[in-house]
Amino acid sequence: MTGFTMKLLTLFLCLSLTVVAFVSSADVKDDEDVSMVKFKKFKNRYRKKYNKGAQCSYYRRWRNRKKMVFKHNQAALLGNSSFTLVDNQFADETVEEWNSLLGLVIPGQFNLKKLGIKDLTAVDPNKSAEDRQVISSTITIPSSLDLRRHRCMPPIKSQLTCGACWAFIATTSVEFQSCLKNITTPVRLSEQQLIDCSRDYDTNGCNGGFYTNAWDYLINMGGQVANATYPYKGTAGSCQYSQGITKVSGRLSRYIYLDSNERTILSALLQRGPITVSIAANSKFILYSSGIFDDDSCKNGTINHGVVLVGYGRANGTDYWIVRNSWGTSWGLNGYILMKRNVNICRLAEYAFLALL
Ligand SMILES: *[C@@H]1O[C@H](CO)[C@@H](O)[C@H](O)[C@H]1NC(C)=O
Ligand SMILES: *[C@@H]1O[C@H](CO)[C@@H](O)[C@H](O)[C@H]1NC(C)=O
Ligand SMILES: *[C@@H]1O[C@H](CO)[C@@H](O)[C@H](O)[C@H]1NC(C)=O
Ligand SMILES: *[C@@H]1O[C@H](CO)[C@@H](O)[C@H](O)[C@H]1NC(C)=O
Ligand SMILES: *[C@@H]1O[C@H](CO)[C@@H](O)[C@H](O)[C@H]1NC(C)=O
Repeated sequence: MTGFTMKLLTLFLCLSLTVVAFVSSADVKDDEDVSMVKFKKFKNRYRKKYNKGAQCSYYRRWRNRKKMVFKHNQAALLGNSSFTLVDNQFADETVEEWNSLLGLVIPGQFNLKKLGIKDLTAVDPNKSAEDRQVISSTITIPSSLDLRRHRCMPPIKSQLTCGACWAFIATTSVEFQSCLKNITTPVRLSEQQLIDCSRDYDTNGCNGGFYTNAWDYLINMGGQVANATYPYKGTAGSCQYSQGITKVSGRLSRYIYLDSNERTILSALLQRGPITVSIAANSKFILYSSGIFDDDSCKNGTINHGVVLVGYGRANGTDYWIVRNSWGTSWGLNGYILMKRNVNICRLAEYAFLALL
């Protein structure tokens, strides 16, 4: 068979499947255009290139998700949802490809309950008294906070196709706290150093890790190198950092665990800056476009992603968090998402930590 006939056949198969799906779908209330023409536009918009023979399955995934997006947005228009979705650059991807956007793994021996943690007690019990002083419980709480344009907030980054959200969120905290301590120009630190060099601390490169393990590594190493010195590659490699030789910028001294109490988390955010958290991200999170994310279906999901809380507020009668992601600026609200507050949305409150210099 020539390449051309093959192409024709693929196109025909994709199209005939569309027709079957369309005819057999009983609720043809959804009149969304999921034609090949629309798919071509989607492909061009995101400069998609597929391996030989794979186009059909990418088309089918995009079509199903586009329909889901349409249904959801119709409901949002009618007031049944407070957020909207979009068939963004991830809408055609496989589950494996989606996994490479995530990369949060809770360490096996990590058991907060066992530690008997309550309120603002540190993971290290020797430091608990000190940590209680870090965050005062008697401050006035303003109605909103937005650190997105704070001079110490680094620009939104992109982890590309490397499941190392853990390294990105660990770095955001160190960058912000370093900048707070240092009035000079904020420095961009190296996620790649964490990916390549912290394996002895139970992290697994582009296949997942946990932020406190990355911080343990940094505390022992005495700091984090600038991104300019140790640039991001988006794949895991051998460690290029040599202690005493490579110049270090971000020096972390400790981190504290915040009880899964969103008032405590808010208070810490107000007084000390960004809070690093874990969430159970689902397909609606991945396809998020705007509004306050309040999807219920991630409530009991497996924790798989890490993000950073950088503010809060209230709109349309709903309290929300301003949440920073590491999927570039074209995702969500210029790289951020608003998530409902005080309902442990997607388990967001369960592994909240504050890193300090
Ligand atoms: C909103 O959702 C509820 C429950 O899913 C449903 O019964 C109702 O018809 C929906 N309302 C609108 C306006 O779509
Ligand atoms: C980090 O380094 C990479 C590789 O040089 C570069 O593409 C990227 O823009 C840098 N990131 C920041 C935030 O400076
Ligand atoms: C503060 O900034 C200076 C100059 O950029 C740098 O040499 C130093 O390492 C920084 N200190 C910290 C704590 O980041
Ligand atoms: C609040 O509702 C209005 C009108 O529906 C909408 O335009 C706005 O985006 C909503 N605000 C948020 C933060 O979702
Ligand atoms: C989710 O978990 C909570 C508490 O762990 C439980 O009470 C609830 O029944 C669960 N909901 C579902 C839908 O499984």
